[in-house]
Amino acid sequence: MASLGKVYLIGAGPGAQDLITLRGARLLAQADVVLHDALVTEEMLQLCPQAEKISVGKRSGQRSTAQQVINQQLVDNARRHQLVVRLKGGDPMLFGRADEELRALEEAGIEVEIVPGITTAVAAAAASKQPLTKRGVARSVAFFTSSTAPDEAQHDAIPDTDTLVQYMGGREAIATAERLLAHGHRPDTPVVVIENCSRPDQRIRRLTIAALALGLGEAHGPVLVMLGDAMQSRSHQAIEA
Ligand SMILES: C[S@@+](CC[C@H](N)C(=O)[O-])C[C@H]1O[C@@H](n2cnc3c(N)ncnc32)[C@H](O)[C@@H]1O
Repeated sequence: MASLGKVYLIGAGPGAQDLITLRGARLLAQADVVLHDALVTEEMLQLCPQAEKISVGKRSGQRSTAQQVINQQLVDNARRHQLVVRLKGGDPMLFGRADEELRALEEAGIEVEIVPGITTAVAAAAASKQPLTKRGVARSVAFFTSSTAPDEAQHDAIPDTDTLVQYMGGREAIATAERLLAHGHRPDTPVVVIENCSRPDQRIRRLTIAALALGLGEAHGPVLVMLGDAMQSRSHQAIEA
């Protein structure tokens, strides 16, 4: 079947409506259909009142649409519509399953373009006013996750960089802290945890690795964990334990 449409993989940023790029917002306003993740906020979807909206959300532990089904939905929609948006939280090229979607669309001969978004690490650094690099303190950063695919072996290695940013790490926080302590990191190494970054219910916590090893308690939204000496609090920033 001939392909009519073009698919745009667009990064929505961390949640606030004005943290999407102008290009992303313009395309949303022209879209025929928008397939969006669970992390995409209601206020972001207000940028495309004209579009059919399809939630293909995936949140760990919750009912979700299988990736193969999402791939097929993208292909089917591109055959029916001119302008299809696949809207993803943060940036589509980081922990966003973009590889699978690009392959499926390319194999089906469908044109794809990617519009970057603000990834959570960068938004969280801004929200907490905590640079990820600091002259003389931190010159390397890793964005990593311990989350694995169901058929993939557990991946315990933690990158060896000055600053660590752990995505999908809420449940993994204790294990991460224990592994870092076992590898000789100081118990008082500073940690910043941000929940619901850029949203009205944003919560920022400043801890140490020793406190992180005791757990994060219940989280009510997505959580990002940033660790390393670059996270050292300034005098007015209160630290938990
Ligand atoms: C599947 S990954 C998607 C990452 C996304 N592509 C990005 O560039 O930010 C989902 C994880 O991103 C982080 N995340 C996304 N949005 C967030 C937000 N608003 N606040 C805190 N963490 C967020 C959390 O670690 C969450 O578990």
